[in-house]
Amino acid sequence: MRILSGVQPSGKLHIGNYFGAIRQFVEYQDKAEESLYFIADLHSLTTLRDGTKIREYSHDVALDFLALGLDPERAILFRQSDIPEVAQLYWILGAVTPVGLLERGHSFKDKTARGLPADAGLLTYPVLMAADILLYGTDKVPVGKDQKQHLEFARDICTKFNLTFVPGFDSQDPDGSRTKAPGILKSPEPIILDETAVVPGIDGQKMSKAYGNTIDIFAPEKVVKKRIMSIKTDSTPIEAPKPPDSALYQLLQILAPRDEADEIESTWLEGGVGYGTYKKRLVELFHETFGQARARRKKLEADPEAVSRILSQGARRARELAAPTWNKIVEATGVGIEIEV
Ligand code: ADP
Ligand code: TRP
Repeated sequence: MRILSGVQPSGKLHIGNYFGAIRQFVEYQDKAEESLYFIADLHSLTTLRDGTKIREYSHDVALDFLALGLDPERAILFRQSDIPEVAQLYWILGAVTPVGLLERGHSFKDKTARGLPADAGLLTYPVLMAADILLYGTDKVPVGKDQKQHLEFARDICTKFNLTFVPGFDSQDPDGSRTKAPGILKSPEPIILDETAVVPGIDGQKMSKAYGNTIDIFAPEKVVKKRIMSIKTDSTPIEAPKPPDSALYQLLQILAPRDEADEIESTWLEGGVGYGTYKKRLVELFHETFGQARARRKKLEADPEAVSRILSQGARRARELAAPTWNKIVEATGVGIEIEV
């Protein structure tokens, strides 16, 4: 099984990103035969137009992932734009993608409704994403539920390509076991990451960069403490039972080890412990959870060359994995240059 996912280089990671997505990515590196993770720098051009920033954020994402446990021995970490065939496949797929499909895109509709300019890149964003996925013969794609429609588009575009370029292709028999006309591109399955794992922010809403309510994994110690101490709580007195719909309670439940989480549950519901005590414990739990990653990131920061090496090695391996599919695409479409492996 081959797993792939991408993340846009768009700033600092918070603990919601970790529990909602990255933790699972790290787990898949042991579950899948091959796992590929890339920094979607081409996608970020739809919102970020500053070369220095894109380069800087891309490097940061790589640091974050490595610090949080992605192991370049087991997973392939690379930068999207290091693989030139991605952009070529994007064009080829665009040639068979109906505009009507793209105009139904939630993300395109939301962004244009909010007054963002309707750049072609915003419209064709899902085509590039399909190219990312299909180039490597991906089986499964772990993503947040906001990306569900993009995966459906990738599946549609995959079928469209095979119908166009594989004579005798039947979408009911994509492997060609009956027709002897297997598709060149493989249809990917989404893995929609657990919806129940919504991590609340310090104001009680969903934690999100957009709401300014995050606790960032790699923020300076003082900032982390300040953020945690300012989690919104009510005026329930120390001795009284506390309401379980509180962000503080939910964060404790997410970060504490099982036994302690149960203990916290009972004291929370019985009363006797004040919010201040719980917050102090949350600061400790934060460091117990992320201390190692924070230390590892510091080390990596000191050696930017090592990160560049990991990324270029990753790109080489990713391109090798792309070769069989890409070479068939070149053969079938009559455009492009084969990858020699
Ligand atoms: P943000 O909302 O801060 O901009 P992103 O949209 O970049 O975060 O999210 C990246 C990934 O992190 C997504 O796959 C999403 O599933 C996950 N994620 C983000 N915020 C949360 C949260 N509060 N709880 C759980 N998962 C989250
Ligand atoms: N669009 C995704 C996001 O914003 C990032 C992404 C780009 C991606 N290409 C991908 C995710 C391919 C999975 C597979 O989160």
